[in-house]
Formats: sequence, structure tokens, C-alpha cells
Amino acid sequence: MRETVHVPLGDRAYDVLIGPGLLAEAGALVSPLLPRPRVAVVTETRVAALHLAALQDGLGQAGIDTVVLELPPGEATKSWAHLGQVTEWLLEQKVERRDVVVALGGGVIGDLVGFACAIMRRGVRFVQVPTSLLAQVDSSVGGKTGINTGQGKNLAGAFHQPSLVLADTDVLASLSERDFLAGYGEVMKYGLLGDAAFFGWLETNAPAMAAGDMGLRVAAVRRSVEMKAEIVTRDETEQGDRALLNLGHTFCHALEAATGYSDRLLHGEGVAIGCGLAFELSARLGLCSQEDPSRVRAHLKAMGMKTDVSDIPGDLPDASAMLDLMGQDKKVIAGTLNFVLARGIGDAFVTSDVPRDVVLSVLGDALA
Ligand code: GLY
Repeated sequence: MRETVHVPLGDRAYDVLIGPGLLAEAGALVSPLLPRPRVAVVTETRVAALHLAALQDGLGQAGIDTVVLELPPGEATKSWAHLGQVTEWLLEQKVERRDVVVALGGGVIGDLVGFACAIMRRGVRFVQVPTSLLAQVDSSVGGKTGINTGQGKNLAGAFHQPSLVLADTDVLASLSERDFLAGYGEVMKYGLLGDAAFFGWLETNAPAMAAGDMGLRVAAVRRSVEMKAEIVTRDETEQGDRALLNLGHTFCHALEAATGYSDRLLHGEGVAIGCGLAFELSARLGLCSQEDPSRVRAHLKAMGMKTDVSDIPGDLPDASAMLDLMGQDKKVIAGTLNFVLARGIGDAFVTSDVPRDVVLSVLGDALA
């Protein structure tokens, strides 16, 4: 049940391995990259308690020694302070240019450690070992790294591709149902943006996948990674098509900002609601049929996920304040909001040509 997706980026090409039992085999898989049998592992305390011993055992099987830095869990770790801490620690550990750093954790650890590796000694190699569904299908692949700044999320960073990604689908069993389903928001996004057959497959199979079916989990992660790899290969630095991966994200970022990036709304939950709103906006603009947003929402409901803005607990600002929050999105170019809209399920495109009043009416109805 092992799948490999190759990301063909020339001298920065790498494999994403997907399947159960990869932590146990990490030594054999990482060894070919190493100039000496030693890696520095950066993780966070919650993940370390669950998975660090298994990773160290796996590496130890190939005689690989580890030094480990454990950071606090949570989004606040993606900061200048922790970037400095990780970089200084790697230097203290005498990690050299040809050595390999391992990022064990979810998106926060992958983004932070990837950024530290991008700047340390002007670039050291790193291996992503993503432990959340969101990190396995999105953030560990494609080389976006970075931290949050006082001005907003992911505003300092670099493109730095990993040398290998080990997506061990066994670790998904340790996620809470809420975290798993939030990650699923990104899986569904791939079907909606570019593969109608995959979305149909998810409508049939995602409930069993969420309930734990390993074959279905491997298949869903593989197709997601394959689609991400294909888009990233076309447009590594997001000059165009890579923005398709932001389907649902313009609405999501406004919802996340309005809820203070708190537990009220997880990123993947915001993406899922945002995908529904992007399809609603597309339908109102006459780009797709009204059945499409209904189908997206029906699937979210069937999965027991947050579907509508009204599913977010607590108060939200009004439509025009939400539109202002969308204007803070870093995808604003020359003051114009870029949206990912759709001509139908599996057929998304990027545009800046969206009348403000139609966005306002979608937001107004969603908030009513
Ligand atoms: N998460 C969106 C991207 O990697 O471009």
C-alpha cells in the first residue's frame, strides 16, 4: 500500500512517499541522502510524545543518530523568535551544508523548519515528515516555507523544496476527528479545483476514509499530492496557476481574521466553507450552475463538517467589514482582489474580474 509521487523540479526534484509504516522505515529511506549517519530533528512537544520514538527507532535501524529540538505546539511557534531559535540550534549542533534536517510535525513545524533550512548556511536540505492530514496533502509539498509576522500570516518566507517527504498514513490515526476533517477540507479542494471525477470519488468514499479505511486514506492523499505536484511543477513560484490552490482561501482568510485565528475556526474548516462560498459566487456570476454550490455544501454536511458561515460559533462582522478583511489578503495585486472561481466542479480559474457588489451580496446572505 505504498505510493510514490515524484515532484519533477529539475535539480530540486524529490519524491513524496505515502503509506502506512513509513516512520519505521525512515532510516532506509533517508540514508541515501546523508553524507554521514546523523540528522537533526525539529518537532513540537505534542507530536514528539506521539511519534518521535517511532521516527528515532526507524532512523536507528539504519544506524542514524538524532539530535532533537522540541518546540511548543501551536501557530504562535511560526514566529521570528522561534525561527531564530531553530537556526541558532541547528548551527550549535554543527549541522553542515550537506547534512539533512528532519521536520516532524504539522504545517507549523514544516513551514518554520523549512524556512530555517532555507536561510541557514544559505540553504540546507530537509525532509518533511508531515503528521497532520493538512500537512500531508498540502503544506509539506511544494516548498512554501515561512513564518507569521505582526502584519499577518506567512508574510516572511522563502520557496525551499524539501529533499523527500514521508507521509506516513498511520500517524493520521492520532488526529482528533476535528483536525482530520479540517485537513479533509484541503483534500476536497483538489477535486473541486481540477478533478471532478476525484470529487465524485470523495462523495462516495470519503465517509469510509474518515472512519479509518487505510486504502482509501492512501488513495486520497496520493491523488491530492499528485495534483499539487502537477500544479507546483507548472508554476513553482506562484506567478499564475499555483494560485488555483487558493480555492476557498480568500473567503477563508477573512473568516480566520474575523475569528482571530482562534479555535473557533480551523484553517481547513475555513477552506471548506470558503469553497462553498467561491462556488456560490461563481453561480451568481453565471459561471456555473446553482447545483454546484449545493453539491459542495451537501458533501460537507454529509461529512459532518462546518458547511455554512452560521456554523462558526460567536459573532462575525458585517458583510462590508468582511470584504475589508478580504482586502488584507496577500493575494491582493495592485489593490485588486484575486479570486479563484469555477466554471463547474473540477474547473477552477483565477480572476480579478469580480464585481464588489456581487461579493458583498454573497457575504451578506451568508451572514444573514
Ligand atoms: N498552500 C498553497 C500552496 O502551496 O501554494
